[in-house]
Amino acid sequence: MDNNNVQRDGFTSKFGIIAAAAGSAIGLGNIWKFPYITGVYGGAAFILVYLICIAIIGLPVMLSEFLIGRRAQANAVGSFKKIAPGTPWYLAGWLGLAAAAVILSFYGVVAGWTLDYVFKAVTNQFSGMTPDELGGAFGGLITSPLRPILWQLVFMALTAGVVLGGIKDGIERYTKILMPLLLVIIVVLDIRAITLPGASEGIKFLFSPDFSKLSGAAVMSALGHAFFSLSLGMGTMITYGSYIGKKENLGTTALQVTIADTLIALLAGLAIFPAVFAFGIEPGAGPGLVFITLPNVFNMMPGGYIFAIMFFVLLAVAALTSSVSILEVVVAYFAEEKGISRKSATIWAATGIAVLGAFESLTYSVVDFTLPLYKGGEVLTLPFMDWMIELSDLMLPIGGLFISLFVGFKMLRSDVEDEVTNGGEVKVGYLGAFLFLAKFVAPVAIIIAFLNMLFGWL
Ligand code: TRP
Repeated sequence: MDNNNVQRDGFTSKFGIIAAAAGSAIGLGNIWKFPYITGVYGGAAFILVYLICIAIIGLPVMLSEFLIGRRAQANAVGSFKKIAPGTPWYLAGWLGLAAAAVILSFYGVVAGWTLDYVFKAVTNQFSGMTPDELGGAFGGLITSPLRPILWQLVFMALTAGVVLGGIKDGIERYTKILMPLLLVIIVVLDIRAITLPGASEGIKFLFSPDFSKLSGAAVMSALGHAFFSLSLGMGTMITYGSYIGKKENLGTTALQVTIADTLIALLAGLAIFPAVFAFGIEPGAGPGLVFITLPNVFNMMPGGYIFAIMFFVLLAVAALTSSVSILEVVVAYFAEEKGISRKSATIWAATGIAVLGAFESLTYSVVDFTLPLYKGGEVLTLPFMDWMIELSDLMLPIGGLFISLFVGFKMLRSDVEDEVTNGGEVKVGYLGAFLFLAKFVAPVAIIIAFLNMLFGWL
């Protein structure tokens, strides 16, 4: 595509921007992962640490990504090349592209499980199953060779279908419908959960902190999850930032997206834990929380059939509006930097990543492919799929580090100010605070977290 003559595709409304960016942020991370790590790390104290990470690291990195992208009007790699030509900073964009492939490959597999659960919920396959049988059903699904791959391919096809439409007629159009739907579903589920007799134990678990439960591992996970949940560290928000109009206030947008993401994570917790506690079930089930514990909860709950369907549709919708943002990073790169048509770029990128993901899924069943990972001072041997999940946990903070350093030290302060204030149009009182966070607080916190993750100090 010739960018010089053709008007660049982009978002057309404030609501469209928020729907797309919050749609990216709100995903499996919020509804599948946040509740289960909160359960594993003991509840409210963990949440508090997570909120601090969001405020002092997540928010400034998101604003950094938005402003890089909008300044350069380009994809994740092209943005660094345009703002800092002739320097190696574009490698940060490359890292982002690699992270996009890594994340979307396993994300598609987990989203595929979700579609399988929508199907099972609709066909009422959970009812009458004991907790053990539910555990067996989940284990059976993820370790069967074909079934998860078929659903993963369906999900990747949906993702590609949205991205094929472009920004205005694809991503913005669908997220504007899907995000309100998501909000309605989660609110209904919340009302159901908190009106169950015995729900208050679950609410306490979420909101009254017990700091004795806080460990170093919990702090690390909180930081890592802040990046993942806000879609930071791999150029998603750089790419989306490049589609945001010059009149929009980037600081406000970053704040709104961050608040929406955090709110939905908390609402997901509120849909899950009150119900889990109301039926006297253990909250620390880990990754199986929504796939094993919840169907068990729905079995005991009046109206559980309908609520189960709603929950898994919610999960699938959240996953889709996120996966499109990951694919878009890769597509925008190939379309803009390599001159490939958007259509071919989308088809090839989605296919390549789907094949990688299918292979990962097979490492839970018939393919014996494990890789070593040095983490927390010890060497773990993991199936390739788990290894990729861990790898993404390392890539995102490194990407975030480069992004905050780029804005803090490489870009001219006057350019940063110009972009954040829309050329002096909006008054911004937080510029100094933002730059301080981007220059020092975020990088130092990321480096400490990263070293800790590798060496397991805390
Ligand atoms: N934030 C999404 C979630 O919570 C996942 C996601 C979308 C993502 N784009 C990303 C994660 C970019 C990291 C980087 O599920």
